[in-house]
Amino acid sequence: MTKNTIKTASAKALTVLGLNKSFHLTTGRSVPAVRDFNLNLAPGELVTLLGPSGCGKTTVLRALAGLEELDEGEILLDGYSIANLPPHRRRMGFVFQNYALFPHMTVLENVAYSLRIRRSPDAEVRAKVASALLAVGLENLGPRLPGQLSGGQQQRVAVARALVMKPDLLLFDEPLSSLDTKLRVQVRAELRRLQKSLGTTTLYVTHDQDEAMSLSDRIAVMRAGKVEQVGTPEEIYARPASLFVAEFVGKVNALPGRVEGSSNGRSTVEILGHRIQVPTDRIPAAQVLVLVRPEAVRLCPPSADRPAGRVEETEYLGDRIEYRIRVGTTLIVAAQSALGGASRVAESDTVGLEFVEDAIHLLPFVGPA
Ligand SMILES: Nc1ncnc2c1ncn2[C@@H]1O[C@H](COP(=O)(O)OP(=O)(O)OP(=O)(O)O)[C@@H](O)[C@H]1O
Ligand SMILES: [Mg+2]
Repeated sequence: MTKNTIKTASAKALTVLGLNKSFHLTTGRSVPAVRDFNLNLAPGELVTLLGPSGCGKTTVLRALAGLEELDEGEILLDGYSIANLPPHRRRMGFVFQNYALFPHMTVLENVAYSLRIRRSPDAEVRAKVASALLAVGLENLGPRLPGQLSGGQQQRVAVARALVMKPDLLLFDEPLSSLDTKLRVQVRAELRRLQKSLGTTTLYVTHDQDEAMSLSDRIAVMRAGKVEQVGTPEEIYARPASLFVAEFVGKVNALPGRVEGSSNGRSTVEILGHRIQVPTDRIPAAQVLVLVRPEAVRLCPPSADRPAGRVEETEYLGDRIEYRIRVGTTLIVAAQSALGGASRVAESDTVGLEFVEDAIHLLPFVGPA
């Protein structure tokens, strides 16, 4: 379990085992949406499903909520199966991309809705709604209609509506995607604080890697219905299990290399016609793919003992400058802080390249994709 996870008395562990789900089309064809999907969430943990459009993220959430029937699989909350329970007995709070608030109902009525249809006593409804609105900081906006709120406030009403039932599990499906960039960053920080203070186990779907990085205790990267890697944001970024994962969470240089030999715990790997040293325990195979993030490429004066290339393009991005550098047939991306101290180089300069050793990650080379 990650160290900053708050475990409350009521927080539940979620175990998803061997989930399979195909959709059957009227043409007779079937679309496999989720394939042998496995995932564990510790009590109070926030895990993000991150992956490209169509990889099965929404289908997993809907299956957990009981809105999609499983072909195969088991869903356990604290060890008890909920796979055969109807949606209303699963105690899950679902927040959708479009908040789906009732436009003609006030904030109070929207949040109270699920309690009302369960015919909860009036006093209990009032108390629960007040506490959910307080949790999201909207205690003064109860009488307003959704149309009289900002996008961020509407989104928080949707969260309050999910919280009011005191769910065992919170499910978020791209809840911030309709907000503008600045608001998205602000609301995701609020969501993070709220989730930690409530301590409710949460599965969060996004295809935005920054959002996943900033919110998650752990990230599960999905590809074509399966989990490709689960890890902390740092593990996913610095030690990706595949090129797909590496590329999904940021820019990366992927250079084919050959291991030439080892001694004293260090190995020599040939890349770009030059040799670099890496700890032997990082070598996964004789033919490797050397992954280096742009910020781990240092520009230095050209010299015979390191690769050199010509700067083809520079791009000023505010906080950093990115350089595209041609070394033979390979294009290397390097990034430097844009603060004054950095050695600015210009297009068509020739520069030497150094790779920060700690930031080098090796994968077995599996041939061109
Ligand atoms: N009701 C349905 N009928 C047929 N195919 C479906 C249905 N719902 C989803 N699919 C297919 O299942 C696959 C997974 O869809 P899903 O909505 O889970 O993807 P996603 O990861 O949430 O994508 P996005 O990021 O675009 O929301 C896709 O190929 C999709 O076309
Ligand atoms: Mg989706």
